[in-house]
Amino acid sequence: MNEYKSRRDRLIAAMPKNSIAVLFGANGNIRNGDTEFPFRQNSDFLYLTGFDEPNAIAIIESGENSGFTIFCQEKDSNREQWEGKRMGPNNFKDIGALNGFSISSFNEEIDNFLLNKERVYCHKNSNCHSEKILNEKIIELKKASARTNNSVPEEMYSVESILHEMRLFKSDVEIKIIKDACKISASAHKRAMQRVSPEIYEYQLEAEYIHEFMINGSKTCAYPSIVGGGKNACILHYSENSEILKDGDLVLVDAGCEFKGYASDITRTFPVNGKFSKSQEAIYEIVLEANKECIKTVKIGSKPSDTEDRAISIITQGLIDLKLLSGDLNELIEKKLYCDFYMHRVGHWMGLDVHDVGSYGTKGIWREYEPGMITTIEPGIYIKEGLKGVPSEYLNIGIRIEDDVLVTNREPKILTSDVPKEIKEIEILMSA
Ligand code: GLY
Ligand code: MN
Ligand code: MN
Repeated sequence: MNEYKSRRDRLIAAMPKNSIAVLFGANGNIRNGDTEFPFRQNSDFLYLTGFDEPNAIAIIESGENSGFTIFCQEKDSNREQWEGKRMGPNNFKDIGALNGFSISSFNEEIDNFLLNKERVYCHKNSNCHSEKILNEKIIELKKASARTNNSVPEEMYSVESILHEMRLFKSDVEIKIIKDACKISASAHKRAMQRVSPEIYEYQLEAEYIHEFMINGSKTCAYPSIVGGGKNACILHYSENSEILKDGDLVLVDAGCEFKGYASDITRTFPVNGKFSKSQEAIYEIVLEANKECIKTVKIGSKPSDTEDRAISIITQGLIDLKLLSGDLNELIEKKLYCDFYMHRVGHWMGLDVHDVGSYGTKGIWREYEPGMITTIEPGIYIKEGLKGVPSEYLNIGIRIEDDVLVTNREPKILTSDVPKEIKEIEILMSA
């Protein structure tokens, strides 16, 4: 069965009969003047419809009229001459819809969908204005239906609570696409390792990634690439990428492509001149051990909190061994003293969004990993200038090693293993 239809059917099955879910797609965004940012569809909308045009709304209905209606831009030869092809509402069957309307008629047509419905589902926890628009419509309808035999739903339900749980578990089709995305990103990291050299700009190294992404069929990055040489690697979301890479420094690159709507998310840290120094090596080995040990926890029966605990414990012990922290391991962990060096979480779900949707647990209890979930594993150590008690050879070293991992019925499946992370492997690749 069509992937999108099977997703819609699952949403329908999760709603009471005679209910609707109203999903607003994304609109274009002005960048400056009359230029727009490249269009990116809302991920939930894309997940359910595969329809990649701006200004569209999908209504998915359960019960007797079970199915899907699309509101979209009308065909317009003049606009299509400038902006590209539109499907048009009359071609609704192209995307498996039962019906199609012009987006300009939404305000009028929505009344028929809302009246006498059991429940209305929409986005409640996102920036989109759908809840406000629908609420206003409901208030209007209530007034109009007073003293008639029509009813209007009283409250909105969160479509996220159903959809985001679905999105957390990747289908075979999704896993295949994410594997392809990871392959492309891995090959970009390898290309960068082979091409980096002292005195090029960080953005010139970034260009190697963009080249490799696009040449392999990915039109965009899944998130702004971080290319931080030396001290810049200690800024977690550094993305200016505007400085010169220096001989003797490491460069941390967190870059992943988006492929067919799905993210990949890889970080590697490598020496600009191809050879790790002793102090860089010492920190790198701690992060690498944390990365490898954390990956082992991504399996049935264990929880994201187990992974986090593993990262914290290995990093803290490593810092004690190097005398960058002193004291008792458990006490340092309890007092969170490792946070001067490691201050972010060890992973996140990944899918259509790089930081993908799906809960990590509820009511203070972490959920367990289950097959089909994909998480990143990304421990790091960041030793910024000015950290007290740290010998100068360790200052301004920032290292993160990030892989994408699929939970399976057996061992964790690393989707990003094509790109080396052992020191020797990296040095060999860089000298080739
Ligand atoms: N690239 C974003 C992250 O690693 O979370
Ligand atoms: Mn990540
Ligand atoms: Mn990342």
